[in-house]
Amino acid sequence: MLGTFVYNNPTRIYFGEEALDSLSTELAAVGNKVLLAYGGGSIVKSGLYNQVTEILKKCGKEVFELPGVMPNPTVEKLYEGCEMARSNHVDFILAVGGGSVCDYAKAVSVSAWCEEDPWEKYYLRMEDVDNKIIPVGCILTMAGTGSEMNGGAVITNPKENKKIGHVFGANVFPKFSILNPKWTYTLPQNQMVAGIYDIMNHITEQYFSGTDDNTTDYIAEGLMRSLIHSSRIAIKNPQDYEARSNIMWTATWALNTLLAKGKATDWMVHMIGQSVGAYTNATHGMTLSAVSMAYYRFICPYGLGKFKRFATEVWDVPTEGKTDEEIAAEGLNRMEDWMKELGLVMHLSQLGVTEDMLEGIAQGSFILDGGYRRLNQQEIIQILKASM
Ligand code: NZQ
Ligand code: ZN
Repeated sequence: MLGTFVYNNPTRIYFGEEALDSLSTELAAVGNKVLLAYGGGSIVKSGLYNQVTEILKKCGKEVFELPGVMPNPTVEKLYEGCEMARSNHVDFILAVGGGSVCDYAKAVSVSAWCEEDPWEKYYLRMEDVDNKIIPVGCILTMAGTGSEMNGGAVITNPKENKKIGHVFGANVFPKFSILNPKWTYTLPQNQMVAGIYDIMNHITEQYFSGTDDNTTDYIAEGLMRSLIHSSRIAIKNPQDYEARSNIMWTATWALNTLLAKGKATDWMVHMIGQSVGAYTNATHGMTLSAVSMAYYRFICPYGLGKFKRFATEVWDVPTEGKTDEEIAAEGLNRMEDWMKELGLVMHLSQLGVTEDMLEGIAQGSFILDGGYRRLNQQEIIQILKASM
């Protein structure tokens, strides 16, 4: 395994059907004033809102409600949360929802006591936190982002057509996250599959880098095999607890920093997908699925050995009588077939992207070095065109 690293993940996970029982224990350890952040109402419909507010009441907390955290949370909404957290001197932020609500809670946690504009400091200048951080806890209702056990906080600035993620350090990770796979049953099918592809892409973004023999790659292959297997069960029977629980746990491990250990990591599908999101406000996982095949087919010749391994170890492609190029191509074809089986968006035009946006989307895509080839602007446009 290459390099030296530190692995420290301080988030406590409570997993399973009884996971919410641990909330009161966690709340006993935090201050009295709790900011309760949630989305557009799915938790009210599912009954989770009632359960959580009941527990908060029993624990004697003073609750400040912050509803309406939208998918792809905006900088305006961030300012609203900061104002509420600061003026009420909240001690703790409880996020109940999907990745957007968890990300948002972390963004408010580092921004509420920030002396300057947090968008400029954390998202444009990518600076570290040097002010008070309000601790966060999450109750997760959607599997996908891994936000429940990492420091990611993605914020969208619609006026500037920018969607940017800041990956904060362990001091910003949720103190705890509560994961009950049953809460994901109410997700609409398109959100469930978008989350599944987000998980897959988090794994491939880290897997497709490096040529060394690395323990992390073997872990990644196991996670991908589990995800593919469970996803095929979940699309037929969304209430299959075994499949949904495996998907939820895989999501957590796909992006809780473990798979990046000893890896350069690529992340270009996410960089392009986020820029697509800034222009369309489309569902995160679908922005990734729409550009993935064009990207991976472009990059495959530069990382042929790894794409061949992906084909044989993840997709069971037979090798006899085939060239490495044919084996690698067959692996990508099988991934594409699986994506279609799930019903993912495979073309940018389906997300409302038009030709005149491509230049801006390419410009808004951060270019990173960790993958098998550093792209230039022209190549990003080429990939975007091939994704239309
Ligand atoms: O707002 P509500 O009413 O809750 O509805 C949400 C939302 O409309 C709904 N939903 C969530 N759980 C539900 C449910 N509906 C019914 N039943 C449930 N149990 O689903 C919709 C999407 O939710 P959202 O939280 O937006 O989805 P997701 O978890 O995919 O989060 C997306 C955000 O996370 C960022 C994305 O960029 C995007 O902004 N990401 C965060 C990352 C991180 N922290 O590391 C990494 C990811 O790559 C990603 O960039
Ligand atoms: Zn993602």
